[in-house]
Amino acid sequence: MSNQTSAKRDGFVSSLGILLAMTGSAVGLGNLWRFPYLVGENGGATFIIFYLVCVIFICMPIMVCEFIIGRRSQANAFGAYKRLGGDKGWKVAGLLSVLAAAFILSFYSVVGGWSIRYLVLACGLKFTAAGGIQPETMFNSFVTSTWAPIIYTLIFLACTGIIIVAGVKNGIEKFTKALMPVLFVLMVILAVRSMTLPGAGEGVRYLFKPDFSKFTSSSAIAALGQAFFSLSLGCGTILTYASYVPRKENILKCSAETTALDTLFALIAGCAIMPAVFAYGISPGQGPGLVFVTLPAIFSELPAGGFAAILFFVSLFLAALTSAISLLEVVIAFLIEECNLRRPVAVGVSMSVFVVLAVLCSLSQGALSHVKIFSLNIFDLFDYVSANVLMTFGALLAVLFVGHKLKRADIQDELSSGGIYGVPRGFFKALYFIIRWAAPAVIIAILIAGLIS
Ligand code: PHE
Repeated sequence: MSNQTSAKRDGFVSSLGILLAMTGSAVGLGNLWRFPYLVGENGGATFIIFYLVCVIFICMPIMVCEFIIGRRSQANAFGAYKRLGGDKGWKVAGLLSVLAAAFILSFYSVVGGWSIRYLVLACGLKFTAAGGIQPETMFNSFVTSTWAPIIYTLIFLACTGIIIVAGVKNGIEKFTKALMPVLFVLMVILAVRSMTLPGAGEGVRYLFKPDFSKFTSSSAIAALGQAFFSLSLGCGTILTYASYVPRKENILKCSAETTALDTLFALIAGCAIMPAVFAYGISPGQGPGLVFVTLPAIFSELPAGGFAAILFFVSLFLAALTSAISLLEVVIAFLIEECNLRRPVAVGVSMSVFVVLAVLCSLSQGALSHVKIFSLNIFDLFDYVSANVLMTFGALLAVLFVGHKLKRADIQDELSSGGIYGVPRGFFKALYFIIRWAAPAVIIAILIAGLIS
């Protein structure tokens, strides 16, 4: 890229803003509706320890690779591979990332829409004893209806689009910097409330008591898959955000802090959800059922549950929103830099496509539920293809690119920010080994395991 173009490029301005934007992308539905359940089902502390090993030894090096590609190229996911990779082949990696982000955003925004609907209900004090709701019937009739979920999905997409139109510094950085601390405080309040309920101890034990007998080989795959999704790897989000990171920032430190904060949020979410689930003698589950059926049932019995419901659905909405903006930015950066569109035009163009895709995902819960591709409805297909195929390939190509295409000296230069920060030799050697051999081997193993299952 010419210096002139890079000078014009929007970007992050503060270290805290970068960290919170990265964390905003990472902390999302994955932390709130999957992590707590996976922990409990797969041996509590045993799972957490294995998860941490995966995160530190496999996922963080992958994140570092995305940081290196993004920051060194100062370009969108597609342009980054084109600029650093030279030949045509590597561009496919960038294209896969953009596609993965687009697929994820399409179904993610439907769930984002549900969170707005539930926030509105919570504000109307529906989740109180007086609200008189039947959570399961209410959820099923809402998601299978035609117009209401579409309207909320469109509201969610509009919120995402408005923040993105404002740009990186004035939109993404400003909003995530304001929203993430709010999300953190809300989650902590909920965790304290939940853990002080009578009978909450059972839920805390479910989360943290080590149980080696429950930890199987499928737990190991689940831990790795969860770590991938939760850290937003393999779909260009970290790469694109990293391209807005100034040269003086320490990218190793930023990767470590993002990973630590994402894990902390996941643990706090576990403490906010599981103790309450156990205090009310409900068996835990995962996914939409947990947050949209089980929790509303608990809120309506909990003293001051109406207030807790508002806090929870605000949190869910914020977590989904800050992840969605990172997904949309992957596509927008691509359209701006590769198709020469102005930012507002790029947002307009991409939104018209996302509206169609998200509406299809929403309808696949009801009116279009009979439309099956490989025996999955459209929503589940998007989820499956992005999480199990596109993201995994995206991550594999990112590590292969850094480990086998980039020069060792260039990687060292990027990690030390041109010599500003020292990178211990032994540490670099270990990291380089993981990037070149261990991480690709593990990712290929997951791909094979996924195919077999
Ligand atoms: N990490 C987000 C979550 O935990 C999901 C996500 C995946 C966001 C990929 C951006 C990119 O929910």
